[in-house]
Amino acid sequence: MWVKISDLTPGTKVGKDILTKHGSILLTQGTVLTEYLINRLKEMGITEVFVETEFLQKSEPPNEREDVITFNDKYQQCLILTSQLLDSIEEGKKFSLELLREIACIVLEILRNTTNLWGRILNQRTETTYLNKHSLNVGILSGAMGKWLELKDGEIRRLIYSGILHDIGKLKISKSILDKPSKLTEEEFKEIQKHPVFGFQMLATRPEISKDITLGVLSHHERVDGSGYPHGLKGDSIHLFGKIIAVADVFDAMSSNKTYREKHSPFIIAEEISKSSFGTLDPKVSRIFLDNITRFYVGNKVLLSDGRTGDIIYINPSDTHRPVIKINDNTFLDLRKEKVRIVDIVSL
Ligand SMILES: [Fe+2]
Repeated sequence: MWVKISDLTPGTKVGKDILTKHGSILLTQGTVLTEYLINRLKEMGITEVFVETEFLQKSEPPNEREDVITFNDKYQQCLILTSQLLDSIEEGKKFSLELLREIACIVLEILRNTTNLWGRILNQRTETTYLNKHSLNVGILSGAMGKWLELKDGEIRRLIYSGILHDIGKLKISKSILDKPSKLTEEEFKEIQKHPVFGFQMLATRPEISKDITLGVLSHHERVDGSGYPHGLKGDSIHLFGKIIAVADVFDAMSSNKTYREKHSPFIIAEEISKSSFGTLDPKVSRIFLDNITRFYVGNKVLLSDGRTGDIIYINPSDTHRPVIKINDNTFLDLRKEKVRIVDIVSL
């Protein structure tokens, strides 16, 4: 049904693409309106929007503040438990599967209730080690991908386990190599490349841990063109968990501040993943990931490589890393046709 712009409430779902006078798409069908987007539409002279009536009757406007507080609580809780888990593994203790189950339960709750998953993760300020945070983020993102790929519930849970455990082999590698601020020597790089096998060996002694979890750990650095390690496997000989964890791993690693470089914006990473999906990363897994991770950025303000700022108003489904940006009332940039890139997200 058509609803006047003044009667729209946050939480309403757009039923048909919203177009400008010139026919360009402003918002696509299925976008959930926020207060920010409704105000933007008003500013752009849109008077009526076709909305999904089924959604109007059923839904309550989302309480964004509450969502953020709940997410932050659960994320911090998971982080403490992940630190405990990795500490016990580092001390050579037999880690508790109960602890792993507890983390996965909270991660599943996060996945059920959080829409802008990556925006929420990016906003977390933590004092923990890189490995603790990275392990948790890869567990969360892998679980999210399991959902988007419509895996069974049990598989999603095991994928979260595998994501959290994917780098435990690094606990066997000297900190002086792992934390080295400068470029690694060939020898040191070879040492780091042993971590998937170390991780696999640490889990293989536990018969209660299922095979797909250990194979995910073993194969997360394999690449579909055979360029990865430890075995140089190609295409479908790489376990699905390994392919999923690989995408989550690349995305989180590029998003983090490392000693030797600044973190990248999600759109630059999306561009890298998009390029890699034609060679090293699995194309189907990468596509599903990019479609889902970038769509929540509609409505956010971004900084462009030429210094200008603007609002994301449309994510191109075929080119998720090059959205349409509104610079001001008269200037719209379709980044598919421009040389400028998004270098940062100014508001989330
Ligand atoms: Fe790794």
